[in-house]
Amino acid sequence: MSRFGKTLMASAISLTMASCASARADTPQPVKASENAAAVAAETTVPVEKATPAWAHNDPKMNAFIDNLIGQMTLQEKIGQLTLLTSDWESTGPTMRDSYKQDIAAGRVGAIFNAYTAKYTRELQQAAIEGTRLKIPLLFGYDVIHGHRTIFPISLGEAASWDMAAVEKSARVSAEEASAEGIHWTFSPMVDVSRDPRWGRISEGAGEDVYLGSKVAVARVHGYQGKDLAATDTVLATTKHYAAYGAAQAGRDYNTVDISERTLRDVYLPPFKATVDAGVATIMTSFNEYDGIPASGSKYLLTDVLRDKWGFDGFVVTDYTSINEMVPHGYSKDLAQAGEQAINAGVDMDMQGAVFMENLAKSVEEGRVSQATVDRAVRRVLEMKYRLGLFDDPYRYSNEAREKATLYKPEFLEAARDVARKSMVLLKNENNALPLAASAKSIALIGPLGDSKTDMIGSWSAAGDRQTRPITVLQGLKERAPKGTTVAYAKGASYDFADAGKTDGFAEALALASKSDVIIAAMGERWDMTGEAASRTSLDLPGNQQALLEQLVATGKPVILLLMSGRPNTVGWADQHVAAILEAWYPGTMAGKAVADVLFGDYNPSGKLPVTFPRTVGQVPLYYDQKNTGRPIELGEPGAKYVSRYLNTPNTPLYRFGYGLSYTSFSYSPVTLSAPSMGPKGAITASATITNTGKRAGEEVVQLYVRDLVGSVTRPVQELKGFEKIMLKPGESRSVSFTLRPADLAFTRADMSHGWEPGEFQLWIAPSSGAKASTPVTFTVTD
Ligand code: NOJ
Repeated sequence: MSRFGKTLMASAISLTMASCASARADTPQPVKASENAAAVAAETTVPVEKATPAWAHNDPKMNAFIDNLIGQMTLQEKIGQLTLLTSDWESTGPTMRDSYKQDIAAGRVGAIFNAYTAKYTRELQQAAIEGTRLKIPLLFGYDVIHGHRTIFPISLGEAASWDMAAVEKSARVSAEEASAEGIHWTFSPMVDVSRDPRWGRISEGAGEDVYLGSKVAVARVHGYQGKDLAATDTVLATTKHYAAYGAAQAGRDYNTVDISERTLRDVYLPPFKATVDAGVATIMTSFNEYDGIPASGSKYLLTDVLRDKWGFDGFVVTDYTSINEMVPHGYSKDLAQAGEQAINAGVDMDMQGAVFMENLAKSVEEGRVSQATVDRAVRRVLEMKYRLGLFDDPYRYSNEAREKATLYKPEFLEAARDVARKSMVLLKNENNALPLAASAKSIALIGPLGDSKTDMIGSWSAAGDRQTRPITVLQGLKERAPKGTTVAYAKGASYDFADAGKTDGFAEALALASKSDVIIAAMGERWDMTGEAASRTSLDLPGNQQALLEQLVATGKPVILLLMSGRPNTVGWADQHVAAILEAWYPGTMAGKAVADVLFGDYNPSGKLPVTFPRTVGQVPLYYDQKNTGRPIELGEPGAKYVSRYLNTPNTPLYRFGYGLSYTSFSYSPVTLSAPSMGPKGAITASATITNTGKRAGEEVVQLYVRDLVGSVTRPVQELKGFEKIMLKPGESRSVSFTLRPADLAFTRADMSHGWEPGEFQLWIAPSSGAKASTPVTFTVTD
């Protein structure tokens, strides 16, 4: 008998799904699903229906127009079209040129970012139209990520809604506002899968999952681009950062990425491919290297995969100075070589580095870059300008009357509030501490995020007003509190790293707490502790917040932790000691209203985590679709040493992917299958009935997980393959069905081909990953 004990011999299969099970068990109970899987396109594991493209890909009239235009252009004018510069309004790196206005008038630049308002874009456009020989209009880009003026929850929060209509609505409103301010092009969606909460940019994406991430990415592209790029209220979308940026080693931003090609294809690429299928107009390269080659110089990524395999026919823009960065990466000996490597690999437009502007002409003249390569890139850029209608009227998006009528429309603010409350995830709710009881006559709101406008809109909030517009939690609670209920505020603690150990505000906060019925601790991270260049080595509450939280709990009053941040935090202590935890992310302009909606029970929380919350940073990377290993902990006897485990911490997360509570409860019936097996062209439908067993109407995100039991390469212990968010009245039941086809089970096989393999699979329908609402059912796929 081996040292694992006799259980090792037991079926590995039946035990392994629990390996990522959280300490917090969702009540395993029964729902219908219409998250049907369409045919998988080659080279992606996530099925995405081919969308109606937002433009005609082959328009003879456009082709003739552009042939004629390119025929008139000098090499310098062509290179201008491949150059994107920031205005002096904002930047996220070294500003290489402050002469952008002269560059525009001289035709040395074809696109500008960080410039908006109808007036300013019109002024710059005028310089291009009136100052240049060929009058080619400028393209205006901007980071419109989760709202433009009206700010929605941060992207990770939106993903937590698992509500694709809500995600699309946010992108739609963003496009309407941004386009009304002269913007043609947003640098969104960011689709980087991330399994490392140390990485600050985890806040900008949709979390750790390929399937959910792909669905969110496509919803955003649809919202931005609509069905017609020529409509003045749509903008070009950009899928970024291509590729594998989320796999930065140790979660440190811009760091090296070193992953297998299989992982690249199965985990990091599918959301990009999904947006290409959905007709995204542009792709942005990433800062990192992949397999030793910086992404902006990678022919493999930019040509072999993106163009040749996927058929992408929009244009590729680099990230900010990422061509220049190929020199410090140690891939290019100088900027001239970097530019040659980039354009020859498949880059079309250089963001902010001015490398093409300053070096490309010589590279062409000396034959290291062909005229045809330059012409191809220019064509791709001009095509987008044409599709936007800029050659018909370069000022069509810079309309002050429309701008005035569009920004902050009441319906936009209402949509932001709605998406914000849908994004919140109830992580703990002991003895129904929430919603706040009518008997809670005095509410103490304590913590640095309780009355902060600046933090509410999170990072990457574009033209969002951080100073005046955001509604704070204090404002929201005060406005909503029933007559006779008081809401008082004390900051109490600080989230600044430097304030760890200080206790300055504690006495005031504790005094307030002791005379109140309930304490709401609004704690988390400062808005810029996530986003770009915002990695952390600890996921704990920063500053002196934890110390105050412990003292608040010691008062014996019920404490509700209102967590606000852009990443999973390690809140294990809070999980054990406070009465309730609500993850509110950064909710946006309407933050306080949305928080009040949830805390007072006007909205029943329905969000589920799009990312795993670890117990400690030492468990990272920890994600739900991990592999089993040869020595999974469940196969050892309790306390066995030689199994895959830590000496000091369980393997399980604090809160698992897909987890989230409601003010009501749901039960799940056993799953039924339409058939026990399917052939290559077949399909299987799995169904379960979900019942609202509580007293309130509520929404539930019903999730379908699959495990491929044996493969030509090892397979994850569980993979999300479908979800549906349903609303149920108290006592109401609904059948939810998911249809799977063999293509939905595809992955990168041992020989690196993409496809499914015949064999046995398990499937279950559950309220979260790791939870089995009923016994998994087995089905086979035959060849
Ligand atoms: C750098 C960031 O990585 C990218 O996401 C952003 O779009 C550009 N800067 C432009 O601001």
